[in-house]
Amino acid sequence: MRILGIESSCDETAAAVVVSGERVLSSVVASQLDVHARYGGVVPELASREHLRAVTPIVREAVERAGLRYGELDAIAVTSGPGLAGALLVGLTYAKGLAFALGKPLLGVNHLEGHIHAVALEAAQQGGRLVFPALALVVSGGHTHMFRVERDATAGYSYRLLGRTRDDAAGEAFDKVAKLVGLGYPGGPWVDRLSPFGDASKVDLPGTRMKGNPLDWSFSGLKTAVLRWVRAGAMDAEIAARRRLFEPGERPTLDAVLAATPQPTRDLLASFQQRVIEELLARAEQAAEQEQVESILVSGGVAANRGLRERFEKLSLPVWFPSLALSTDNAAMIAAAAWPRLARGERSDWSLRAYPNLRLA
Ligand code: KG4
Ligand code: ZN
Repeated sequence: MRILGIESSCDETAAAVVVSGERVLSSVVASQLDVHARYGGVVPELASREHLRAVTPIVREAVERAGLRYGELDAIAVTSGPGLAGALLVGLTYAKGLAFALGKPLLGVNHLEGHIHAVALEAAQQGGRLVFPALALVVSGGHTHMFRVERDATAGYSYRLLGRTRDDAAGEAFDKVAKLVGLGYPGGPWVDRLSPFGDASKVDLPGTRMKGNPLDWSFSGLKTAVLRWVRAGAMDAEIAARRRLFEPGERPTLDAVLAATPQPTRDLLASFQQRVIEELLARAEQAAEQEQVESILVSGGVAANRGLRERFEKLSLPVWFPSLALSTDNAAMIAAAAWPRLARGERSDWSLRAYPNLRLA
């Protein structure tokens, strides 16, 4: 079954063709990073406009690169939520139009289910097999969610929410801290690159536990602690110097950013990253124990973090990560998530809408 996936929930317009949830024929991603970078975050109106501009050529490119004609597609899968309402609508409307014109089945997919299936897709491509029940940790700019995942005999997946962030997502916390110290957007990858040059034991930062569900996180206190540290540290001059390095159009080298980052700031970033990783790891371990799972699946943009990968790989359970390209937003994961549902006859009808707060479980 050749499934065209379309994804437009945030700031990436993506299309991909995946065969039966396991073989990627094409995967095209148009990032809007340059558009949003100067604002230090995603601007919803600009995101919708850019999706509108990109969706037709990106879908065409995905179909062409797959070596197919439109008529040879078997189904269209599209992200129906969660995400930015206007952004979701662009992909959704396009997918509906295409499915209607081609007379092919349409299926709306939950973006989080997509991130989880990025891991299954990665495993399938490597000839590996995931073992269930599994713990899925989805950590991105918009989400920090932990699910118990089961797969039944007919390859149908089911999910149960175990824990989530009560405020900022982990990636959002990375981005806000990076912005605070004058690193470009998105800052997560820069914190990751600078962390090995700092001493993570130097700055004592608070944890992320809250009253209520012991498997939930709260990252806002951690972010505020960093803010206080920055204010107390008289860092204005070095922050301004780094901001200049990240002015629109500039792509600074690691050496240039390091040269503009004194040791105490490197220590702060390393301490922050370590704290986030330890908090994610601690809850994942606790959930894995509680649920007696057989494996852990980590996905979403923050799964690209090298420090996080190293720490999770030391766990005694098998831990799976998608490749870097499948970690951040893409449409191959949407097409892959649609496959077991389509195979069981699930379809969306023409009343399918965008659900900005769509829940997976
Ligand atoms: O999954 P994704 O592409 O989009 C969302 O659905 O949000 O995730 C993007 C997020 C951003 O917050 C970005 O800073 C973060 O993932 N990110 C990282 C790294 N690479 C991307 N955070 C920490 N370390 C990284 N290496
Ligand atoms: Zn995502």
